[in-house]
Amino acid sequence: MTNQSEQWTSKIGFILAAAGSAIGLGAVWKLPYVAGTNGGAAFFLIFILLTLTLGVSLLLAEFILGRSTGKDAIQAYKTAAPGTPWYFVGLLGIAASFLLLSFYSVVGGWIVIYFVRSITGQLSPPDGNFELLFESITANPLEVGLAHLAFMVMAVLVVQTGIQKGIERASKWLMPALFILFIIIVIRSVTLDGAMEGVAFFLQPDFSEVTGETFLFALGQAFFALSLGVSVMVTYSSYVPKRESLTRSAGSIVGLSLFIALLSGLAIFPAVFALGFEPSEGPPLIFIVLPAVFNELAFGTFFFALFAALLLFATLTSAFSLLEILIAPFTKKDPSKRKKVAWTSGLLVYLMGIPSALSFGILSDWLIFGDIFFNQMDYLVSNILLPLGALLISLFVPWKISKSVLRDELLQGSNLGSGFFSTWLFMLRFVTPLAIIIVFLYVLGWLPGIGPTI
Ligand code: TRP
Repeated sequence: MTNQSEQWTSKIGFILAAAGSAIGLGAVWKLPYVAGTNGGAAFFLIFILLTLTLGVSLLLAEFILGRSTGKDAIQAYKTAAPGTPWYFVGLLGIAASFLLLSFYSVVGGWIVIYFVRSITGQLSPPDGNFELLFESITANPLEVGLAHLAFMVMAVLVVQTGIQKGIERASKWLMPALFILFIIIVIRSVTLDGAMEGVAFFLQPDFSEVTGETFLFALGQAFFALSLGVSVMVTYSSYVPKRESLTRSAGSIVGLSLFIALLSGLAIFPAVFALGFEPSEGPPLIFIVLPAVFNELAFGTFFFALFAALLLFATLTSAFSLLEILIAPFTKKDPSKRKKVAWTSGLLVYLMGIPSALSFGILSDWLIFGDIFFNQMDYLVSNILLPLGALLISLFVPWKISKSVLRDELLQGSNLGSGFFSTWLFMLRFVTPLAIIIVFLYVLGWLPGIGPTI
């Protein structure tokens, strides 16, 4: 019952939109600071391994569920397993997307601020200290509140017009531009004096620091960076025509996403060490390090403004996917409600994000279980809800959809054989759920062995 007018117009359109969802703050903002606080290279390596194994299998699982049913996050489960309560996996995904977008858009707002400041010449930090600059920005509730609002308004404006016109067109040009600019920063960063220590921190693993929690963070990061566990990819692939190869799309998306993760690590860490910052700065890391790197570049302010604009775009394309999943269940039945639902959801997300937005300023002393609201929200979503959603999807797809449908969907349009199908099915049925459960048990302290946990 897929509405023809709601299909992607081209294969590249779907890949770009799905890659647009995947590539965003996860690779550029989150990976550097999570790697920075969790041991650097060892974390990065575990993250890559988890992406290539669990990440790829789950991405394909979400794609298959979406395309075989042609439905949104809730209806897909209802269609594949009628009369069962499994659709609550979709509900869980919607709840997680809502919470995720609430703090994601706060960071999106920070980018808006850095962009506006760079074109208005207000990026020079007090005493040349970019840490103080970040602190003074986030201490101002009006500035962060307005920027957060501006970000959500931009997201809603695009999403309310529908998937094709809004999301697909712009991705084609801006994502490649972002890649090119990133390569320029990497070159600048690794040629700074003292950069090699940072390259080693990012690429030479030291496993002595690895704990059960390192695995949980890497798992959360892998799912976050591929937009998995909340059925976003189910919703997106429900618009994909039957003839397209899902495996090829998945391959491109995972490849692009890992490539940008590598670039962002190579852009940040050499500069962190060369310019005397701490890798364990936490969420502000890239907002402190990147302006400092651009400062070292000829025409730095111009390039920084361009970079901020492109990163803002990448962040918005991810936000579109999160907003789309919130509104799809309402609009697939009645597309005329799209505008109203989009604005209402946007408003609710905005309100939910306010305590996160104030976490680095006036609410910085308000600690929940020992950490600020923003960090706890991120922890809840990335390290609990996403892995939990992923676990449920890896139980649902291979057991509730018939083997012949799975095989057809997986192998459609590709020249991969049944060996690939069996391996994927095995990964999804046994390896993925077990791995997620084991990581949870380690972190809860119910399994001894890998170092100290929380
Ligand atoms: N993947 C995006 C990023 O890395 C964020 C994102 C968009 C996301 N949609 C998602 C994360 C769904 C988890 C689930 O920036």
